Amino acid sequence: MKICCIGAGYVGGPTMAVIADRCPDVTVNVVDMNQSRVDAWNSDSLPVYEPGLDAVVKRARGRNLFFTCDIDRQIEHADIIFVSVNTPTKTYGIGAGFAADLSFVELCARRIAQVARGNKTVVEKSTLPVRTAESLRRVLHANSNGYRFEVLSNPEFLAEGTAIADLERPDRVLIGGDDTPTGRTALQSLVDLYARWVPRERILTTNVWSSELSKLFSNAMLAQRVSSANALSALCEATGADVDEVANAAGSDSRIGPKFLKASVGFGGSCFQKDILNLVYLCEHYGLREPAEYWRQVVAMNDWQKSRFVKRMVDTMFNTVSGKRIAILGFAFKKDTNDTRASAAIDVCRGLLAENAELLIVDPKVPAETILSDLERATGTSREVLASRVQCEPDVYRATRDAHAIAVMTEWTQFKTLEFQRIYDQMQKPAFVFDGRGILPHAALTAIGFEVYALGKPAPALAR
Ligand code: UDX
Ligand code: UDX
Repeated sequence: MKICCIGAGYVGGPTMAVIADRCPDVTVNVVDMNQSRVDAWNSDSLPVYEPGLDAVVKRARGRNLFFTCDIDRQIEHADIIFVSVNTPTKTYGIGAGFAADLSFVELCARRIAQVARGNKTVVEKSTLPVRTAESLRRVLHANSNGYRFEVLSNPEFLAEGTAIADLERPDRVLIGGDDTPTGRTALQSLVDLYARWVPRERILTTNVWSSELSKLFSNAMLAQRVSSANALSALCEATGADVDEVANAAGSDSRIGPKFLKASVGFGGSCFQKDILNLVYLCEHYGLREPAEYWRQVVAMNDWQKSRFVKRMVDTMFNTVSGKRIAILGFAFKKDTNDTRASAAIDVCRGLLAENAELLIVDPKVPAETILSDLERATGTSREVLASRVQCEPDVYRATRDAHAIAVMTEWTQFKTLEFQRIYDQMQKPAFVFDGRGILPHAALTAIGFEVYALGKPAPALAR
């Protein structure tokens, strides 16, 4: 069997690496139009940081896993073609700011139809709005040279930072297909592929529309839990309750469960906001105003949490952060990834820069170039102007020298065990800590002399 995957991104790369690793007799070609990304996949420095990914790629690459820009040839030879190109939120025209931009996906379908020399199974791996398979199918058939195309939906549920574990031991694999003889055959071939390493009972099969919608609903549900915890964090600060204690008490109910209840400065990542807005757009498209409003609130709460965090910092630091040095700990949207897409850190930094703060940003995996270009885009400020206000500093002790405050944006494990006394001694006083992830040892920091403001925890009683 030959597989081709179009799109060597955060999803396509790791997913195909695990398929190739688990199925040595299947040839897996990952193609991408971006030559430098392909080169990086073929080098020792992979373009995606994921624990365990290097080892998986090393085992399979050159054996049955290949990365190339030779898109047409690989499409031509493949039995199954995964489409894993990005589907960003539209920035123009109808549905701008909400709907998914499907132009890359449509281009893929046209290309597949054009170069295919034989019947193919086309698998939607990218997250797509419900009924995209219908459009794909129409584009494929309208342009085919008489060949048959079966379209399956196989959404990805991997979370960044745990991608390899999620792929090797998934809670479930979901495959949607048509209830026709050829549809059932195509679906079975994908089920058989996953069944090489995933227990059968964890492979769910549905119709195509259910599969597409399940992905959006799953992400909306996860994000909704985080927004609920974040809404709670504000009430805890006002009342003296402790957000972790309340979340733990509620999450101990087996019907609620403990996961995705950690209050934070805001969820980020390439999926949550995009998928919810997509769901909102779909609801509106079908005239369902109340469901649309319901889901929109999950994103609104997240935006509020980020701006609330900035406001609390400014209020606490005597109503001004102008000219003050603030050490930003973490820039990735969560730990164990170098991905910054929709990271809460971007919005918080933008808010602080609007207040004329000076930022020293530390992240163990995100390159300075990514941080600066993200902030350039977010603030609309030129690189030169930004450079006078933002420094990317690999060393946390240099970043905190003379700082007025520390703000934790990402829950990197190494931030929990810093030499806090050393940091305190070199900071301006009062030395403020704003813990946007609830990870620092707050009691120990307070004992050292820091003024600690953590999300969802009572503010410290100020010694006057
Ligand atoms: C994935 C999914 O595909 C997306 O739908 C989901 O919501 C988020 O995760 P991801 O792998 O994270 O996307 O995206 P990205 O890392 O941007 O990778 C996409 C790749 O596709 C890029 O390397 C890009 O160069 C490539 N691409 C895009 C093509 O090869 N051809 C195209 O026409 C468009
Ligand atoms: C998510 C889904 O989990 C995954 O199934 C889907 O395929 C892609 O989207 P991902 O975006 O990689 O994965 O990360 P996830 O672990 O879900 O975290 C998303 C955001 O929520 C992060 O910013 C994270 O820090 C935040 N989060 C998560 C919280 O703030 N609190 C929590 O309790 C959990």
